[in-house]
Amino acid sequence: MRIAVTGSIATDHLMTFPGSFGEQLIAEQLDRVSLSFLVDDLQIRRGGCAANIAFGMGCLGLSPILVGAVGNDFADYRSWLERHGVDCASVHTSDVHHTARFLCTTDEHHNQIASFYTGAMAEARQIELGPIADRVGALDLVLISPNDPDAMLRHTDECRQRGIPFAADPSQQLARMGDEQIRLLIDGAAYLFSNDYEKGLIEQKTGWSDEEVLDRVGVRVTTLGPKGSRIDRKGEPSIHVTPSPELGKVDPTGVGDAFRAGFLAGLGWDLSLERCAQIGNLTATHVLERVGGQEYELGQKVFLERFTAAYGKDAAAEVSEHVRCHYA
Ligand SMILES: Nc1ncnc2c1ncn2[C@@H]1O[C@H](COP(=O)(O)OP(=O)(O)OP(=O)(O)O)[C@@H](O)[C@H]1O
Ligand SMILES: [Mg+2]
Repeated sequence: MRIAVTGSIATDHLMTFPGSFGEQLIAEQLDRVSLSFLVDDLQIRRGGCAANIAFGMGCLGLSPILVGAVGNDFADYRSWLERHGVDCASVHTSDVHHTARFLCTTDEHHNQIASFYTGAMAEARQIELGPIADRVGALDLVLISPNDPDAMLRHTDECRQRGIPFAADPSQQLARMGDEQIRLLIDGAAYLFSNDYEKGLIEQKTGWSDEEVLDRVGVRVTTLGPKGSRIDRKGEPSIHVTPSPELGKVDPTGVGDAFRAGFLAGLGWDLSLERCAQIGNLTATHVLERVGGQEYELGQKVFLERFTAAYGKDAAAEVSEHVRCHYA
């Protein structure tokens, strides 16, 4: 099964200021703020939704096709992804813009001042899926994760026109996109991913009830944070999948992306939806235990041990036939 993962590709630059932003802001002079914070620490993390998801799938042994736009500063990041099994041949490189970048400074009270530079991501709207399908033979599923809003709409539209099944994952972009645009992203999706909060937001913005959403999508997958995940289909009982116990909770950034990586891997192996969500939950747990969305290592032995502990021997036997983790 050929799965294309479309969406953002970015790096996160995270700094910490050992003081208080509030103390530097002078109430009478807020019309001419000129501040520079001497920061102690800079962490640069690979990120972007599509890159995180494709990385996770690659770590589980698949070869997902990453589709997104980057700048000509992408070389190191590309080789990292390729080393982990990601097909980067359809990533578009901008001639003029840098790869999207999230710059965030956090103070000692956990206040944050951040900027997101879109950069090359805006060129994702120029990407056509047709030539990518031709290059790899055919596309069996296209995931549309947060990206330039026009790119998300274009990819969805192209999937509909070409009859390629698509999975809608509007997540963070729900806040930014209009009601009609959100309806266009979701209507006819084979799968719809969101967390529990976004589920409510989708219903509010589209004006569609839970039932009406299920009339329009094949499978609705809702992540529930520490409660695991749930699968809903029209006319079928809900399936609740318990979380995989975490060894420690370090940083939740990217857990949603890792869940999608695991779930899509299960789909790629033609496993049941319950199994897909279990693989999603366990992959997400790995991200929760590290700072950053791509800092975890999946080892075949440990992955299967943890899977067995969480979901039992029989379930693990089904997964072990397919999973080929990046590390032994
Ligand atoms: N405390 C936890 N223990 C075990 N698993 C967890 C925990 N928190 C999250 N998960 C796993 O991660 C999945 C996704 O989490 P969540 O619903 O919080 O995603 P999200 O809100 O989209 O996160 P983000 O957008 O920050 O990546 C859950 O379905 C679950 O499998
Ligand atoms: Mg999310």
